[in-house]
Amino acid sequence: MTSLIIGCGNLGKIILERFSKKKNKIFLLEKNIKVCKEIKKKFSNVECFSDPKKVNWIKVNYIMICVKPNDSKKVFSEIKNHCNKQHVILSFIAGLEIKTISKWIVSKNSILRMMPNIFISSNNSSTAVYAKNLNTNIKNKIEKDFSEFGDIIWMKKEQKIDFFTAMFGGAPAYFFYILNCFNKIIKKNGFTEKQSLSAIKLLLKGVLNNINKENFKFSDSIQKVASKGGTTEEGLKVFSKRNNLFTLFERAILSAENKSKRISKKLK
Ligand SMILES: NC(=O)c1ccc[n+]([C@@H]2O[C@H](COP(=O)([O-])OP(=O)(O)OC[C@H]3O[C@@H](n4cnc5c(N)ncnc54)[C@H](OP(=O)(O)O)[C@@H]3O)[C@@H](O)[C@H]2O)c1
Repeated sequence: MTSLIIGCGNLGKIILERFSKKKNKIFLLEKNIKVCKEIKKKFSNVECFSDPKKVNWIKVNYIMICVKPNDSKKVFSEIKNHCNKQHVILSFIAGLEIKTISKWIVSKNSILRMMPNIFISSNNSSTAVYAKNLNTNIKNKIEKDFSEFGDIIWMKKEQKIDFFTAMFGGAPAYFFYILNCFNKIIKKNGFTEKQSLSAIKLLLKGVLNNINKENFKFSDSIQKVASKGGTTEEGLKVFSKRNNLFTLFERAILSAENKSKRISKKLK
């Protein structure tokens, strides 16, 4: 059986790379002919199509949909006549609810929502998965087939995907944004990009090393650096004054979560 990926942008391309490593045949449906040509050159086990009619649908098991929310209705209208009950539909689309997909698709497919982040490329994504009344065989198969993404976390309620999208779908970008702030400050203080990057890399390695220690606690690790009356304590006072930084992060995540909810309403 062959997996079909629809949309080869930021996420679709990473999923394609991940699956192509297994050496299985993969179908890709991508409307951009230039992208199709590049993919054909790079991956010998990927068959790329820009017209859904050309896909050999009988061979397909998973249909992984990786297009923007605004393109989703069009994609489902293009594929609905080719879908049969055997196809397991995996939607990676932020905000698009299962009941909306069910409305758009004619056959009674198993439909799952998956929310990973770009770290699936290195097996380091926490991926939220939600499905209604999923058959145990399919559930077990999903756990096995997608174990290379990182951790699979099954959601009991579909609404929780909105939070997960905002928190972990976006988290790589938030982290890079924060580190870029550090980078700018370091360079403003006279260090080169190279010096800044290697210092930031060591810092991250140190953080990860600490978190991996037994009985790790965030508060203990903060206390170890912020000795009483010292310089770090002064820096931390700015972050924690009126809960400044915490409130800002909380507002950012909530704002992203609300956007996911607005997408759901718009697509209904
Ligand atoms: N990026 C992430 O980190 C991430 C993480 C979790 C979930 N997601 C979700 O994944 C989805 C895709 O995000 P993305 O960042 O990968 O977007 P993207 O870079 O815009 O990729 C979407 C791709 O789908 C193509 N496409 C559009 N309509 C199509 C159609 N009818 N048939 C075939 N291909 C079509 C687009 O082509 P054109 O560019 O020519 O329109 C583009 O190449 C979104 O719904 C997002 O919520 C993304």
